[in-house]
Amino acid sequence: MATPDYRTGLGTLSLDDRIAEHLGKTFQDPWEIRRLSHDFRRNGYVKLRNLVSDEVKEIVSQEVDRLLDLHARRIDITLKETSDSPRKMSTVSQQSIARDSTLIPELYGSTALKGFLGGLADEPVVDCPWDEEKYVIIRQEKKGDTHGWHWGDFSFTLIWIIEAPDSEYGGMLQCVPHTNWVKDDPRVHDHLIRYPISTYAHESGDIYFLRSDTTLHRTVPLSEDRTRIILNTCWGSEADARKEQSHETMEAMFT
Ligand SMILES: [Fe+2]
Repeated sequence: MATPDYRTGLGTLSLDDRIAEHLGKTFQDPWEIRRLSHDFRRNGYVKLRNLVSDEVKEIVSQEVDRLLDLHARRIDITLKETSDSPRKMSTVSQQSIARDSTLIPELYGSTALKGFLGGLADEPVVDCPWDEEKYVIIRQEKKGDTHGWHWGDFSFTLIWIIEAPDSEYGGMLQCVPHTNWVKDDPRVHDHLIRYPISTYAHESGDIYFLRSDTTLHRTVPLSEDRTRIILNTCWGSEADARKEQSHETMEAMFT
């Protein structure tokens, strides 16, 4: 299938230029940026619904749906590195996206986007040192589907909510920030007992920025057959780029 020409929605500007233009127009108040940065660093989470324009969201959404049609693969597993928490969902791997999409890799490479996120993180946001975690797609669709409690291997994740069910049916994000993943002794339940859990609901079109390596997080299982689709884009810190990293949970989900 030919890749659709998403540029028709962008005029003559490159995607990066279009994102830069939108960010410049939308985030003019330095205090607002400081506040978003505080929220991100305190909570490990901040919602950024206006990060890109509706036009960019629309072309991303169409591209994600197209890639799901081509490549979605169902998994139903538990992973010992995260205290046997479940993964029940359909996935599209980074390799499949890289092969069949130009839009998603271009979005991922946006200098404007990385620069803005680095301002919120208060440190540089750099390309993920491991290609296969750069961008993936996840669809939850059946009763009981969940992305169970886990941490990420890398620091910075931007989740694009392509479609979300009403929170009545689950699918919300839950977070326990400022926790560390010890893969051979994860103690997920001990973290849940000791620290408060924050729960965030999302609508289609929301975007959120997550401190993925030090925020224990999951999605609440769906209580009925409903659809939750996300694009997950992940970057590293400069420290991530220097450290040795294994990738057991990602390899189990996306190969
Ligand atoms: Fe995650």
